[in-house]
Amino acid sequence: MKTADIETSRLIIRSMSLDDAAIAWSFWGNPKVAKYLGDPLYKDVDELREVISDIDDWKDEYPFIAYHKETGEPAATCSVGQEGAPDTWGFGYCVREDLWGKGYATEIVKALIDFAAAHGIRKFQGTVAQENIASVRVMEKVGMTFDHASTFRKKGTDNVYASAIYKMSL
Ligand SMILES: CC(C)(COP(=O)(O)OP(=O)(O)OC[C@H]1O[C@@H](n2cnc3c(N)ncnc32)[C@H](O)[C@@H]1OP(=O)(O)O)[C@@H](O)C(=O)NCCC(=O)NCCS
Repeated sequence: MKTADIETSRLIIRSMSLDDAAIAWSFWGNPKVAKYLGDPLYKDVDELREVISDIDDWKDEYPFIAYHKETGEPAATCSVGQEGAPDTWGFGYCVREDLWGKGYATEIVKALIDFAAAHGIRKFQGTVAQENIASVRVMEKVGMTFDHASTFRKKGTDNVYASAIYKMSL
């Protein structure tokens, strides 16, 4: 398993393990948070635990939970890893709903870019639903630029979202 801790001004971002399934589900099981994610809305923590049962063997992705330094509480889930071309990494991020709009996602993605750069990565790609304005804004705020439009289907549903692909090279 790939493990790492990343520290930002307000967060400690720790590698996620199967033991963290209940924390992850508190994000990914929330319909409002999960709306624009490519993964389905998991019906309960057991279903999620099954899906991530091999998390310790993931080779191409670092999954994390971000804890607030002041409160110790989980503030976000996030991940970084290979996306698209073999030399390109992308991100996933979900911030706890009561913390939206306070700059946490931007803080996280900037830290993930630094983390990837320390691993020799120079190219980044982000895929966001065009109607997910907050996430589009996060891409812009970390320095990514719009590359092209596409679509993605939310797994396990008929929901197809118009998406925007953002890119950046260091
Ligand atoms: C998308 C998400 C991660 C953003 O997290 P966050 O911590 O609120 O993001 P930040 O505070 O760093 O930045 C959000 C930006 O979007 C802006 N924003 C949010 N909603 C907006 C709206 N409806 N219209 C215009 N701007 C909006 C905020 O004002 C902020 O920009 P600013 O700093 O220029 O004012 C969060 O909303 C979330 O977890 N959503 C559910 C999961 C998700 O969609 N993940 C991304 C999948 S690609």
